[in-house]
Amino acid sequence: MQDRGPTILVFDSGLGGLTVFREVAAARPDAHYLYVADDAAFPYGRFSDRDLSDRVSKVMFGLINAHQPELIVIACNTASTLVLPELRRNFSISFIGTVPAIKPACAASQSKLVSVLGTEGTVQREYTRALIRDFGRGCDVTLVGSKTLAVLAEAHLRGEMVDDSAIAAEIAPCFVAKPGARTDTVVLACTHYPLLLDRLRALAPWPVNFVDPAPAIARRVVDLIGPAPDSATGPAEALIHFTSGCRTGEALTAVLTSFGISDRPRRPAAGV
Ligand code: DGL
Repeated sequence: MQDRGPTILVFDSGLGGLTVFREVAAARPDAHYLYVADDAAFPYGRFSDRDLSDRVSKVMFGLINAHQPELIVIACNTASTLVLPELRRNFSISFIGTVPAIKPACAASQSKLVSVLGTEGTVQREYTRALIRDFGRGCDVTLVGSKTLAVLAEAHLRGEMVDDSAIAAEIAPCFVAKPGARTDTVVLACTHYPLLLDRLRALAPWPVNFVDPAPAIARRVVDLIGPAPDSATGPAEALIHFTSGCRTGEALTAVLTSFGISDRPRRPAAGV
């Protein structure tokens, strides 16, 4: 009999974590995935630190008890930059977080002008500031906290109309021009933003390298639990659960299917 692959839980406040799920599932197609969107609390960017820690810890407790995953990927910068140490202290399970890709961005920048685009929560965290101190490599790093971009990205993914001007206004502060140099690298420090990548590229005042952390997260998963066995065939088995309990509608079902996820669980996801 074939070995059952590991169960991996991928968690975000909403649908942004699909950008991480896609890469992880491609790297380990033999695993069983539960994608949990804490949409009852979306967006996380507006929460106080205390409220966000309490919320994520409570939801995790329920999910771990119900599903006993081998690995949890927190596909959310806003949560990872705050609650990872607490989760690792409280649960014996392995967690992989998603944090702003400041190190590779600063290493790759030629102009030494780098911007970090995240939620308001992520850019104000000490964790993010420490990454800049430790890995900034002499770059001038501009932190840009967006109130609305995650919400706009969800709307775009759901096929709703999102004005170019709304997106352009959110990304404008990332583009810094100084005599002889301008921003050449923008870290996408929220997993929702790669959902808008084509539009970000089209609306950027000049071309930049947008850094998406998802491939690095997938490599980290393989480092931690090993590569897929040679016999593994895709696509990965993946179910989605919304903490609001809301059904998703046909348009979203089609989007989820394109990411390789089913919103028609064979057994309901318990514990949240
Ligand atoms: N996807 C999230 C992140 O990576 C959170 C967006 C939000 O809920 O505000 O930060």
